[in-house]
Amino acid sequence: MNAARVPLVDLAAHNAPFTEAFTARLRDACATGQFVLGPDVSAFEEEFASAVGWPYAVAVSSGTDALVCALRLAGVGRDAEVITTPFTFAATAEAILRVGAVPVFVDVRPTDLNLDPEAVSDAVTPRTRAVLAVHLFGRCAAVVKLDAICRKHDLALIEDAAQAVGAPRHEGVRSLQCHSFFPAKPLGALGDGGAVCCETEAQAKELRSLRVHGAQRRGWHERLGGNFRLDAIQAAWLRVKLPHLADYLTRRREHARAYDAAFADLPGLSLLSPGYGSPDAVASYYTLRSTDRDGLKEHLSRRDIAAAVYYDTPLHHQPLCAGAAPSGALPEAERAAEEVLTLPLFPEMTSDQRGCVIDAVRTFCEQHPLDR
Ligand SMILES: Cc1ncc(COP(=O)(O)O)c(C=O)c1O
Repeated sequence: MNAARVPLVDLAAHNAPFTEAFTARLRDACATGQFVLGPDVSAFEEEFASAVGWPYAVAVSSGTDALVCALRLAGVGRDAEVITTPFTFAATAEAILRVGAVPVFVDVRPTDLNLDPEAVSDAVTPRTRAVLAVHLFGRCAAVVKLDAICRKHDLALIEDAAQAVGAPRHEGVRSLQCHSFFPAKPLGALGDGGAVCCETEAQAKELRSLRVHGAQRRGWHERLGGNFRLDAIQAAWLRVKLPHLADYLTRRREHARAYDAAFADLPGLSLLSPGYGSPDAVASYYTLRSTDRDGLKEHLSRRDIAAAVYYDTPLHHQPLCAGAAPSGALPEAERAAEEVLTLPLFPEMTSDQRGCVIDAVRTFCEQHPLDR
């Protein structure tokens, strides 16, 4: 099978430079005989926390498990309501369901496709315990406004930053921030991994307990936790890559800004806002909206350019969430699901590859005028 001329991501090219350094680390890790948690995991936690500007990070088995741990730490349990977005990956709502709580979906803003704070405020009930905000496609949700709502109603604020590693931390906001190290993410492991960032040693201690079956010490299980541990090998790999994260994000941003400039004002397209000049956006994905999304995707595919739809079915229409609290009309999420298209974006993308994508998108829009 031929690789796409422009793939969505190129993990082989991305990871190749680290193979040698990692092989040496792997030998060391094998020699210690510690394959789960251990010194590489602890060192990675410190290095990651410092890289993303949090006092503590606790490494876990995936981004999904990071959300489960954060919800448990926030005391969200059976029958509690958690307000969240319907326009995200299923894991966001799945984590809420896994702790026995009920996702309450409210609509997103058309500009950035993130939670609309006014809709959040209107959805608070006496059963609400938390707001789970997603920084979709690397754009920061309105965390300052959401924090004010959470403080007013004594709710926990949890940030699903699975798509936003390296996004700025908002001063004074009281939250827990969850990350994913799935291989295709900007800081990708060799398998699954995640982390929860928190403010205090007490929170970090509780998270460390949650990831080992709720045990505070060996043989003593205080609460319902799980096996949410990160493998030493993943931590060793992530430690090799972490020093390059800032560079990856810069290169991604350069590509995203070139797309923004080339696609501004094209008929039938609209770009998400803020654009990639803004510090409130990290270029983890390049997603735009098209009034003929399927036509554009097909046009790119004919030119051997990969593109993907994240997400074509909002969560309030997924069977997974059939038992969720009834949500009113969510027209922005539904319109987004019909219009979004994610284009190739990875640090190693060449200017030729980027040029191919730009030419193909421009040709499509110019040949298909506004009446679509
Ligand atoms: C918004 C969002 N939340 C949660 C997750 C789950 O992360 P993981 O795959 O590491 O479990 C993802 C993964 O793609 C995601 O995009």
